[in-house]
Amino acid sequence: MNNIPWIFMGTFQNKDFDLLLNNVQIGIQNGVHGFDTAPSYKSEGVLGIVLKTLIEKGVVKREDLFISDKVDAWQMQENNGEMSQYVQDALHKMHLDYLDLVLVHWPLPEYLYATIRSLIELKEKGLIRNIGVCNVRIGHLKRILSNVGILPDFIQNEIHPLNNCDEVVNWCNEKNIKIMAYSPLCRMNKKLIESPILQELSIKYNKSIGQLILRWHLERSVMPVFMSHNPKRIVENTSIRDFSLDKNDIVRINAMNENYKIFLESKGCPGYEIH
Ligand SMILES: NC(=O)c1ccc[n+]([C@@H]2O[C@H](COP(=O)([O-])OP(=O)(O)OC[C@H]3O[C@@H](n4cnc5c(N)ncnc54)[C@H](OP(=O)(O)O)[C@@H]3O)[C@@H](O)[C@H]2O)c1
Repeated sequence: MNNIPWIFMGTFQNKDFDLLLNNVQIGIQNGVHGFDTAPSYKSEGVLGIVLKTLIEKGVVKREDLFISDKVDAWQMQENNGEMSQYVQDALHKMHLDYLDLVLVHWPLPEYLYATIRSLIELKEKGLIRNIGVCNVRIGHLKRILSNVGILPDFIQNEIHPLNNCDEVVNWCNEKNIKIMAYSPLCRMNKKLIESPILQELSIKYNKSIGQLILRWHLERSVMPVFMSHNPKRIVENTSIRDFSLDKNDIVRINAMNENYKIFLESKGCPGYEIH
């Protein structure tokens, strides 16, 4: 695997063409080359046209981009895990020859293994480059290995200081599974904005709370998938490679964990109780 992003921009609730074109261009100019979408976000088509426009304008080359899409639960159910048609439709919609990553959005136990087998075939055909699973616990990953014979290349979980997912992060880092954090800022929950620890560190490093949190992800070898409609914040969120956090400060941010989760798919995580 090469060309792995250090950060992603997400497109959930972000499907206005002009806004996305502007924001994606600002992201690229500030070092972002990973972009994340899903059928349920209804942003695949618009993101595809935005990226095609920027490629044609010479702003970026296809080979320098890393485009992450998903297969949704209804697709797994509707086609009993056979994903070929959906992935080909997504490629057509996005004007692409291949996707860098396709993630299973929700690890529905009934269809998970058939879906991954189908994604393996698409990877062998060169239509997708990496396979991933969202909203997983270690138990899912172990069962994927024993049922399908592989571990996914990527996972994507809800990870932020209020839900640090230490166990999964350590396990995946040991196994060299790439980790993406969705809602990496916990949508700037009040507890983060008002945290005395983060306020103190913000003064110490002369960085905003958002920047500190995103840097904390990088320190743990986690790729944050942030979203912002605001060009200034896109610049802010991507200006985090000129400093690093002291070990003790990483530990202090880790200790803010309270297993708080925003999303149902993160709380409900199907099949997690079976190990
Ligand atoms: N796999 C899954 O199941 C799953 C589930 C949910 C999300 N995702 C992915 O993760 C992406 C991000 O999710 P998210 O939107 O929940 O995450 P987020 O990045 O934690 O939160 C985004 C919110 O934070 C604000 N924000 C961004 N940067 C900020 C900063 N520096 N200071 C203050 N506020 C800031 C944004 O407002 P402004 O727009 O005003 O800046 C927006 O309201 C999605 O787009 C999607 O691609 C995946």
